[in-house]
Amino acid sequence: MLLTLTDLERAASERLSAMAWGYYASGADDQITLADNIAAFQRVRLMPRVLVDVSQRAQNTTVLGRSIDLPVLVAPTAMQGLAHARGELATAEAAAHAGTVMVLSTFSNTPIESVAAAVPTWFQLYVYKDRGACKALVRRAEAAGCEALVVTVDAPLLGQRLADIRHGFHLPPELALPNLLDRSALMRSPDAGSALQRFVREMLDPSLSWKDLHWLRNNTALPVLVKGVLRPDDAARAMKAGCAGVIVSNHGGRQLDGAIAAVDALPAIADACEGEVYMDGGVRRGTDVVKALALGARAVLVGRPMLWGLAIEDPTRPLTILREELDRAMALCGAPTVADLTRDLVVHGAAPSRSHPRGRRPGRAAGAYRAED
Ligand code: GLV
Repeated sequence: MLLTLTDLERAASERLSAMAWGYYASGADDQITLADNIAAFQRVRLMPRVLVDVSQRAQNTTVLGRSIDLPVLVAPTAMQGLAHARGELATAEAAAHAGTVMVLSTFSNTPIESVAAAVPTWFQLYVYKDRGACKALVRRAEAAGCEALVVTVDAPLLGQRLADIRHGFHLPPELALPNLLDRSALMRSPDAGSALQRFVREMLDPSLSWKDLHWLRNNTALPVLVKGVLRPDDAARAMKAGCAGVIVSNHGGRQLDGAIAAVDALPAIADACEGEVYMDGGVRRGTDVVKALALGARAVLVGRPMLWGLAIEDPTRPLTILREELDRAMALCGAPTVADLTRDLVVHGAAPSRSHPRGRRPGRAAGAYRAED
């Protein structure tokens, strides 16, 4: 029975090709950050309120002024056609079914226009060396009705994903990259190593800096969110540059290995940032959503779990599981609405449990032993 997101992950791993699974599943290098995104959620513990009337519960909230039915958005993940024949369109329909927003990757196998017609869409943008091409893509996203731009800033070059190098990751001939103007041929080359790594090296701009964020802000009327922020000072700077908010993210552990887990970075950023703060990375349970919102996120984003839903031909399943788990978690926390998910519900870095050595009385503070102990 597929009851949890982890169940979906296992089932998906059995269905996908080695190349597709390796691409979706892997993190950078030793995958320390990939694992820590999940472990960090487990280090956060809940302090539930009791005797709260939770007979009526609601998960609705707003993101950039739009009402949504649950505080979980779809994160941008590339090339969803590797998991399902209808790729991003199936994901868009699942997001619409859940009443939420989809963030569409630049590297999608489905044109922006088709996705934006199916669901409220934010467009994830990489800034290209060719600013004219970048501007054209922004115009296209605007014309398609996208409601925000999400500019990814943690990829001046691509993190090293060993599985992709081993599998010679490339775009299979039956898939297209219709948002990449005329350059998707670069991603098809089956030469040794990762074609994505070569593409990023050739096309994306490693000189990207704060002045380019001002350039982007001056070239669109859409709200801009900055994705890939892990430091409070960077979040504050993004707001000074006129952005609407930030997405606290380490790119699913796929860029800098050893980077802080997203949920560990979240509270300080939420405290420092006056705009809307989102997070992604490691959300696998309804209780994770509770923890992230209590630590200051307006909503979370989920990426890989949506790919698992696609791979098992059940695209709505991941968000249905999360909705049900979140409902139960909110009830058990004494938090009937999203507004009730406040910082007092969590303790960060709970002490590991330990047994009491013989002769030592429970309740005495560590370090307070007396001679007779
Ligand atoms: C693309 O953004 C990736 O991380 O593979």
